[in-house]
Amino acid sequence: MLMGGLRRLEYRGYDSAGVAVVGDDGTIATRKRAGKLKVLANDLTEAPLPGGSTGIGHTRWATHGGPTDANAHPHLGDDGRLALIHNGIIENFAELKAELVESGAEFHSETDTEVAALLIGREYRETGDLAEAFQRVVNRLHGAFTLLAVHQDAPDVVVGARRNSPLVIGLGDGENFLGSDVAAFVEYTRRAMEIGQDQIVTIRPDSIVVTDFAGEPVENREFEVAWDASASDKGGWSSFMAKEITESPDAVANTIRGRVSDGAVDLSEIARIDEVLGDVDRILILGCGTAYYSGMLGKYAIEKWAGIPVDVELSHEFRYREPVLSSRTLVISVSQSGETMDTLMAVKYAQERGATTLSVCNTQGATIARESDAALFTHAGPEVAVASTKAFVAQVTALYLIALRLAAVRGTQSTEALAELVDELQAVPTKLSQVIESSGQIAELARGMSDTRSVLFLGRHVGYPIALEGALKLKEIAYIHAEGFAAGELKHGPISLIEPGQRVIVVVPSPRAVDSLHKKVVSNIQEIRARGAYVIAIAEAGDAAVLPFADDVIRIPLAGGMFEPLLAVAPLQIFAMELAAAKGLDVDQPRNLAKSVTVE
Ligand code: F6R
Repeated sequence: MLMGGLRRLEYRGYDSAGVAVVGDDGTIATRKRAGKLKVLANDLTEAPLPGGSTGIGHTRWATHGGPTDANAHPHLGDDGRLALIHNGIIENFAELKAELVESGAEFHSETDTEVAALLIGREYRETGDLAEAFQRVVNRLHGAFTLLAVHQDAPDVVVGARRNSPLVIGLGDGENFLGSDVAAFVEYTRRAMEIGQDQIVTIRPDSIVVTDFAGEPVENREFEVAWDASASDKGGWSSFMAKEITESPDAVANTIRGRVSDGAVDLSEIARIDEVLGDVDRILILGCGTAYYSGMLGKYAIEKWAGIPVDVELSHEFRYREPVLSSRTLVISVSQSGETMDTLMAVKYAQERGATTLSVCNTQGATIARESDAALFTHAGPEVAVASTKAFVAQVTALYLIALRLAAVRGTQSTEALAELVDELQAVPTKLSQVIESSGQIAELARGMSDTRSVLFLGRHVGYPIALEGALKLKEIAYIHAEGFAAGELKHGPISLIEPGQRVIVVVPSPRAVDSLHKKVVSNIQEIRARGAYVIAIAEAGDAAVLPFADDVIRIPLAGGMFEPLLAVAPLQIFAMELAAAKGLDVDQPRNLAKSVTVE
């Protein structure tokens, strides 16, 4: 059961893994191994642990101390009777460690986590109660943490605590679960319960008690997981990434479903935000990586359709520069996982300064969604591959819905114009399916480029975030140097990079797009072609102007200018995936990365 849960959570970190089981024989047994989960699985097959019905398991993304057996979790208390796992960073671990060393403790790892194991183990010896031991220790810890522990003297209990890191409860029948996300237990139950900030949870097979850090009981919201275990299975696909790209049209359709009627967008599910939309005088969109690029597209849409100034910022840059916010600023955070620590901290910072916060999130029960004033969920379903694909198009869709709703509330577009835009958005899933189904050409191009050392991506207007996203995908999973540029920026410096044979992928705007944008991009292509670049153009069906200047043309169906990015991104995702696969790389779990970045 533990290994099954870890398998579903492995995307969150995969440099080492471990389990601890309170055995039916009354002892505690642990096993932990550096490397991917399969190393631990093989080890356990060869030498199984004693059977038991209470246990904890962990997959790690190293922060303090390299990925070694010793640094893998669980860590033990100093009498070896308590085992503990941790997600996050204990920022004051050095002081606590010095104090423990002073009192004679011995450390067996370089992690920050071990201090918590030792401290809680010691408090248990005093109190004989695991939850009370947690209460005594958690307030001494600074930073972010989810901690779970089992003790061999309390064989049917798991205690957990969380501050700024994720933890959810799975409510079973005669059994209960804790997990960093619902994927860990969805095979056994779809009934789940959130755990709030600074709370401690004690689960037994037939009871759940949640308190705050002072031991006062608290009530939390229960929810039903919207998908079942099969949604997070690879099925017959070669990789999760391949499966998830193919699920993109559904991700868009499901994100629109129930939010559109009679040509208008209905966001009454976030009534609290909907009510203030007329008053908002500025919008700030926050996110990291792919989520940030979706935010850039949100900016283009909101400014174009609703005429409100929008800034987009990387979450981790935002809160360190004393940004100006007011009660009329709406802060929209974008996060697939809803757990990205940089974004969570930025949202809290914005709230402290009086802004209204809306979370665009793909994960039920996630911290950012809980902490925000309201959440608009993207219904992309679970995304397991580390590289974000279907979540990106779902995020853009959600931001477009917000933009259209803003335009309606503020009367910046006629009812007919809005209905046309809604129609175009609703047409995206079918067109996106066509793009994905006819991806053979880009896949073949990618497979022929496995020795390429550098690829540049160009785009303009809404093609620019897509160029950035295409470059990120290639760096991330194929380990190839890639950079995205605004096509107009090339002549200001980067054009020096062009030498004969340099691969350049250009996202070409529709000939019907904003003013003369198409002509300008075609000129940009000619400029790089004249300097020897090998050009792959992503262009609308029927666009003949690119033909004389591109070495290869990948066609996408006609879509109104703002909707083109939702189609153009798929070939770039497929390009990166096929190139990585051709290089023999693990497409789903690229080196050094983790799906959910819960440290700053
Ligand atoms: C890239 C990727 C990352 C994430 C970023 C934010 O493929 O997956 O850049 O987009 O780490 O993650 P979330 O959306 O979970 O906040």
